[in-house]
Amino acid sequence: MITGLQHLHSFLPYILLTALLVASIRFLAKAKNAPFTATDKRVALITLILTHIQLLVGLALYFVGPRGFVYTSVEGFMKDSVMRLYAVEHILVMLIAVTLITIGYSRAKRAANDQKKFRSLGIFYGLGLILALSRIPWDAWLA
Ligand code: HEM
Ligand code: HEM
Repeated sequence: MITGLQHLHSFLPYILLTALLVASIRFLAKAKNAPFTATDKRVALITLILTHIQLLVGLALYFVGPRGFVYTSVEGFMKDSVMRLYAVEHILVMLIAVTLITIGYSRAKRAANDQKKFRSLGIFYGLGLILALSRIPWDAWLA
């Protein structure tokens, strides 16, 4: 069960990070005066769903997996950069990233015109991507 969750949380970022990159560039590029189409809506929604699946699996892993909350009971875990990354930095920054992406989607849904929809999605998805890239455990992921 845990191994399955680890594989999912490790594989999904290839699709999710690509989706965030493609989506934010697409939305920013269209923000000038293009119409918001059914495809734009689908791109925004699929990216949001991938983000939320990553969040759900990450939350489960954090509490039942071998790298996460368990580290907080290790003496001096805050002084160890790897343990601090898994116990504190990854979850904290990813929660902010997921929140920004969700806010971008939500604001776009209620936005008064297409330009505001594109801007909300482009900016918030882009910020979410940058934050996510900043706290990925790269050594473990690409090893
Ligand atoms: C945009 C969101 C996220 C991305 C892109 C992401 C990406 C990753 C990546 C690439 C790894 C390394 C996997 C590996 O070692 O192969 C990882 C590990 C981990 N992530 Fe996330 N993550 C995200 C959100 C979260 C959230 C919200 C949580 C917790 C609430 C979380 C908890 C964890 C945990 C516990 C691990 C260690 C898993 C293990 O035992 O190997 N992640 N994450
Ligand atoms: C820890 C788990 C989750 C949390 C805390 C969460 C949170 C949220 C929040 C706050 C919204 C509202 C956004 C808005 O204002 O429109 C939302 C929307 C949504 N989430 Fe999640 N979510 C989670 C897991 C999931 C999962 C697992 C999926 C799909 C597999 C998912 C799919 C969606 C969809 C489709 C929407 C709404 C899109 C729309 O309004 O058109 N979420 N979620």
